[in-house]
Amino acid sequence: MGPGLLPALLVLLLVLLRGEEASPRRSPASQSLVGACGRRPAVSELATGSRIIGGRDAPRGAWPWQVSLQIYHIHVGYHHVCGGSLISHNLVLTAAHCIRKNRDPEMWTAVIGLHHLYKDDSYTVKHQVKDILIHSDFELATNNNDVALIILTKSVKYNAYIQPVCLPKTSPVLTDETPCYISGWGNTKENGVGEHILQEAQVDIIPLRICNKLDWYAGTISLKMICAGSASGKIDSCQGDSGGPLVCYFPNATRYYQVGITSAGIGCGRPKYPGLYVRTANYRSWIDSQLLNKAISVGIQFVLFFLIPGRMLLHTVL
Ligand code: ARG
Repeated sequence: MGPGLLPALLVLLLVLLRGEEASPRRSPASQSLVGACGRRPAVSELATGSRIIGGRDAPRGAWPWQVSLQIYHIHVGYHHVCGGSLISHNLVLTAAHCIRKNRDPEMWTAVIGLHHLYKDDSYTVKHQVKDILIHSDFELATNNNDVALIILTKSVKYNAYIQPVCLPKTSPVLTDETPCYISGWGNTKENGVGEHILQEAQVDIIPLRICNKLDWYAGTISLKMICAGSASGKIDSCQGDSGGPLVCYFPNATRYYQVGITSAGIGCGRPKYPGLYVRTANYRSWIDSQLLNKAISVGIQFVLFFLIPGRMLLHTVL
């Protein structure tokens, strides 16, 4: 075991984590963390039709990156708490406020390839959680930096109903024509209950200059957030949708990119109070750095546990 092995190991991990680089054709942004992303093999590329609150049943496989994060309760078993999105074989992106009260990985399970909350399909997988990484600057009062990463104990195999979403590296240009969608099992009315079948809705991206008007959110929304829904209310996310993805389809790239994480809002579906989403492009470097830190610590542990004792053994034997 030569001394060059540790740097080589770290470089290898780095290369693996960087994933595929963007090609210009795949604008507006980069690929997922590793390999292909943002495709929906089970349904046609572009979602059509209706415009959660004001949503409709999603076709099976329409949002193959959608995750249901479930927590264990004695007597009840696992039950849905929040949404999430699959961003690589073993990583789920979600909102920090979903897990802040219960940071013990053992309490959680991530369900992927799910359509009906209480009826698994043959391709549905349930994975335990190895680690939870919450953004260190998350602030509950303001919803600032409402981002967390969940590392699964096992890698998920992709199929027509399980696929990762693309994450933009830079803020993509979102015009009125960009089709954007939300999805989740959250409440379908402000004080209502959730649907059992995954809901989807097409949303308008509402510019901050409108969203921050005095009779709207009155200047409280920062550039790190996206306002989306409809000016009149009616189409929105709600309790139980948090942590789930806001995605947009980019025809040039023929892929869906996750531009937001469902985070907050005043009420649900109220006029002038659209849903608030974490702008994912702002957190791409945070995600990369978290993964790099993890990889380095795993690399160091590997060296400490296997290579150093191995060398010492060699020295004593020889
Ligand atoms: N915080 C909510 C949750 O935990 C999501 C709120 C979204 N609200 C809205 N009006 N869009 O599920």
